[in-house]
Amino acid sequence: MRPEAGAPHPAGHPARAGMRAAVIHRYGGPEEFRTETVPEPVAGPGQALIDVTLAGLNYADLHCRTGEYARYPLPAVLGADVVGRRRADGRRVAALLRSGGGYAEVARVEQAFTVEVPDGVGDEQALALLEQGATAYGALTLAGRLRPGEAVAVTAAAGGVGHLVVQLARELGAGRVVGLASTPEKRAFVRSLGADRTLDPGDPGLAGRLAESGGVDLFVDSVGGPVLRAGLAALAPFGRLLSVGARGGPEDVFSVDELADRSAGLLAFWLEQVLADRVLFAGIAGRLFELAAQGRLVARIDRTVPLTGVAGAHRALAARETMGKVLVDVRRED
Ligand SMILES: NC(=O)c1ccc[n+]([C@@H]2O[C@H](COP(=O)([O-])OP(=O)(O)OC[C@H]3O[C@@H](n4cnc5c(N)ncnc54)[C@H](OP(=O)(O)O)[C@@H]3O)[C@@H](O)[C@H]2O)c1
Repeated sequence: MRPEAGAPHPAGHPARAGMRAAVIHRYGGPEEFRTETVPEPVAGPGQALIDVTLAGLNYADLHCRTGEYARYPLPAVLGADVVGRRRADGRRVAALLRSGGGYAEVARVEQAFTVEVPDGVGDEQALALLEQGATAYGALTLAGRLRPGEAVAVTAAAGGVGHLVVQLARELGAGRVVGLASTPEKRAFVRSLGADRTLDPGDPGLAGRLAESGGVDLFVDSVGGPVLRAGLAALAPFGRLLSVGARGGPEDVFSVDELADRSAGLLAFWLEQVLADRVLFAGIAGRLFELAAQGRLVARIDRTVPLTGVAGAHRALAARETMGKVLVDVRRED
């Protein structure tokens, strides 16, 4: 049944019409998702409505669901990236949502965080490349300042961000690329992307193996803890540790002395700084789409689930079962 006009929307906006969405009514586990008909959002100044084709999962969604990351007003629709048609002009666009709303048939997006998708790039690729690709590209270039010939290592190398870091490091002229991934299947996938070597993050000799062949110039980490420590131990002189998402545990705190031991740099990257600069964001998205259209950057789609499958997809992401990007087909009826 469609809700009455004027009924409150999960994001607090007046209703216009009904749409299906995966909604949480309280913070908690994946079992909190309900597929419901809720009022459509309404676009304000600088915003647009998108008739969503596909929504994406991102690791941060797991923390949004538990309320540890961003606490959206409840009931809430999560989801940080979508691709679809902009209602105002019918253009095919992809967009990043900074306060959820992606797991739905209609999303309200900021025009500033929206990019048109060129004909040569399909919906799946565009969506898989926007949040995770801009993170991978921004981390390597803006924060990591990767120089041709440098050795790069990346954790969660089969993941949504990681598998793009591997490919982009190659594209940007890295000398040696090492991917860390937790299963033989993931490591085979990472090698198929062009990594020179793969390692198991659980290997007790990880630091020593990373240090072979001259060490690591740029260690891109999204895991933290002992793996980040191994990355520091394996840095080449003047090497850089670059965090795109460490968990902030006690092992992630470094002293200046530890860094000075090898004149190391400690860096962090957050996509928010890219999004603050519309020209920069559009430029990076354009570059990623160009590489995709040329077949030089290929995002792997792990699975595509219907709205009713969002809970299962969250479970799979948390259980480290996924490789590449997880998508939600918001119009699939099963
Ligand atoms: N800085 C930014 O602006 C920004 C933007 C987007 C994403 N990120 C961060 O980038 C990272 C990757 O995001 P993603 O969406 O692409 O996720 P993802 O890499 O596809 O999935 C997470 C991966 O992390 C690894 N992992 C290591 N320890 C884990 C644990 N205890 N529990 C679960 N997974 C663990 C797993 O790979 P293995 O099993 O192979 O270890 C897992 O597959 C996240 O930390 C995310 O927050 C940062």
